[in-house]
Amino acid sequence: MEEKTTAKKVMLSGIQPSGDLHLGNYLGAIKTWANRSELYDCYYFMADMHTITVRQTPADLRRRTLEQLAIYIACGLDPEKNTLFVQSHVPAHAQLGWVLDCYTMFGELSRMTQFKDKSAKHADNINAGLFTYPSLMAADILLYQPDLIPVGQDQKQHCELTRDIARRFNNLYGEVFKIPEPFIPKEGARIMSLNAPDSKMSKSMPDGCVFLMEKPEDIMRKFKRAITDSDTENCIRYDPENKPGVANLMNIYAACTDKTIDEITAEFEGKGYGAFKPVVGEAVVETLRPIREEAQRLITDKAYLSDICKKGAEKANYVANKTLRKVYKKVGFLQL
Ligand code: TRP
Repeated sequence: MEEKTTAKKVMLSGIQPSGDLHLGNYLGAIKTWANRSELYDCYYFMADMHTITVRQTPADLRRRTLEQLAIYIACGLDPEKNTLFVQSHVPAHAQLGWVLDCYTMFGELSRMTQFKDKSAKHADNINAGLFTYPSLMAADILLYQPDLIPVGQDQKQHCELTRDIARRFNNLYGEVFKIPEPFIPKEGARIMSLNAPDSKMSKSMPDGCVFLMEKPEDIMRKFKRAITDSDTENCIRYDPENKPGVANLMNIYAACTDKTIDEITAEFEGKGYGAFKPVVGEAVVETLRPIREEAQRLITDKAYLSDICKKGAEKANYVANKTLRKVYKKVGFLQL
């Protein structure tokens, strides 16, 4: 493969195929990735190696990994313009992960809030991988020398640790790694649970979560049951502090229709929640319909998806191995 000739900045992100993708993943992340490939050299991967820090059903993990790739493509991530790959297809992640384990401190890992949360939630399986997960994530990132890492707020601490590890390594061995910046989308892109608008939409609370592959009638039912607010005014006004449920629905409607909050306020003047909720539901159904249909079509085309995986892995392996070779040399592994 040829050397990269472009001077484009590099961007990389991953999503764990540990649950079905939902509206929050789409509006908050994947949708915003689709048009970045003009400006950036983009890498997006299925973080399957991270998912086994929590027990998975093997058949489900396989299905979701491929389904996630199909959904990425259906959401507009053109595989010709973006490098889409599966983490476990690029051995350098595990290889650099081990090296970085040796440059990450026990104390640092102990302070990670995701580790504390997950070990509380899975008290019967606090395995070493769950603990060293941030070193593997640092490897995921640093292998590709990215400028930017688009992530959710919950991954900020892991990104900070990645920067610390990279600086520590560079201080010892010279400029091996680029120090990447996390890129965290603004509040507006944060989609909250439909029935608990103070928490992020999450697969762990399925009643308040709209899955990308969900049937239209199920989506409509979830919107009709969405919690608006306990106040008595029954009007559509943007007030995230006092009316978080309504504000969340307005954000979702805005994201799906490209209308502004002012336009939405005007559109629903004099109308109540009963009129508003199904309209938001319809807008979501129509936004997701082409994605679902295209993803369903792609999922049946296993040969095409395998081909994308192979091409993505080939490019990713090439770039990742360049960094890995440098690291191996720096730490003193024998070169033949
Ligand atoms: N830890 C991330 C999450 O749970 C997923 C992830 C793994 C990731 N490796 C990454 C995100 C590298 C960005 C870059 O959401």
